[in-house]
Amino acid sequence: MRTVIFLLAAIISCSSVSAQTRYSAWDSLAMTPPMGWNSWNFFEARVSEQVIIDMADAMAANGMKAAGYRYLVIDDHWVAGRDKQNNLIPDPVRFPHGIKYLADYVHGKGLKLGIYSDAAMLTCGGVTGSYNFEEQDARTFAAWGVDFLKYDYCNAPEDVSTAFSRYARMGDALKKCGRPIVYSICEWGQRKPWLWARAAGGHLWRTTWDSRDVWESHDTNLTGIMEIFHQQENLASFAGPGGWNDPDLLMVGLYGKGASSSVDGRFKGCTATEYRTHFALWCMLAAPLMVNMDLQHMTPEVLQLITNKQLLAINQDALGKQATTVLKRNDLQVLLKPLQHNDVAVCVFNRSANAQAFEIDLKKELHLWQPFDISEVWSGKPVKALKGQLSAHDCVVYLLKAGQK
Ligand code: GLA
Repeated sequence: MRTVIFLLAAIISCSSVSAQTRYSAWDSLAMTPPMGWNSWNFFEARVSEQVIIDMADAMAANGMKAAGYRYLVIDDHWVAGRDKQNNLIPDPVRFPHGIKYLADYVHGKGLKLGIYSDAAMLTCGGVTGSYNFEEQDARTFAAWGVDFLKYDYCNAPEDVSTAFSRYARMGDALKKCGRPIVYSICEWGQRKPWLWARAAGGHLWRTTWDSRDVWESHDTNLTGIMEIFHQQENLASFAGPGGWNDPDLLMVGLYGKGASSSVDGRFKGCTATEYRTHFALWCMLAAPLMVNMDLQHMTPEVLQLITNKQLLAINQDALGKQATTVLKRNDLQVLLKPLQHNDVAVCVFNRSANAQAFEIDLKKELHLWQPFDISEVWSGKPVKALKGQLSAHDCVVYLLKAGQK
């Protein structure tokens, strides 16, 4: 039966989201890509009540909340096990007051709390998962005041039909738990979740293996930022209001300090230019924006980047389109993201390790014929044409406002 439902789900989800005109109450939990912070990579198994409180305080005060960041997601390693009634219990040392206390604290800051579990008996970190306890755990999360669940797939069977079934079980449980909880599916893109994750209840679905804190890994077993970016290029039609392709957490600002993302020190992180391009590309891709650096020790440049108003408006645009590549010339790549009110975002990106000059003809090369008011998002200043010079791995993003001269 589940296999039949899965096949139907795949057929329905295959049709481009642009054909949809109505959104359900469930979709409405993620009409734009979720924005927030996640404890993985920087804190990993050190995540604790104090860490979440510190990050919530930082996010509320440093301009991130004002810019639209909402979720603080506790990733793996928060669970100690189950009690005699099979209720999940948080690690008593690192979460001494329990999760409800933390949710209340985070809500008091005007922010939202996320949590993590796995569609098997054990999570990737080897602690208790939710398989066979989906309804009970969803009720527990709701009672605690949790607003977001990242649901991983370690230790679960490989086939797509079982994956769909296990994700749908938790999706169904969340739908009836009595609290709106955004559902983040994390099976690393291995079973083409863009075809079925919405039907399983997902609001976002990972499209790749874990990101590493390196521009390009040149290692088939490790995905750097460019390897991840290339895997998004044909997925645009599956993203839209209510459901998003998730190319994983932002490496921005980690500077090689995450254990998994640096592969225990092997990768030293990216340059400021590469992080800037990474962030701009994720905004163009309508990707969920989840940073995971230590928010208490962020450089002013990183904070300025992740709170850039125009870039965030592009990411959060209500039309919900993921950018597509419209031009590749030498090592220049141009992405275009249609926005509401016939506005357009254009990103010109230098993939090469050498500086490049560029000049893009809006009409002849991008087929944009109407008049636009154009501004450049780093400076926010108006420009007359799309031309300039880009250093290695740099990009420039233009906002084209329609209907004016
Ligand atoms: C998997 C996920 C990561 C993170 C870890 C936690 O690798 O893909 O994002 O949640 O598990 O163990």
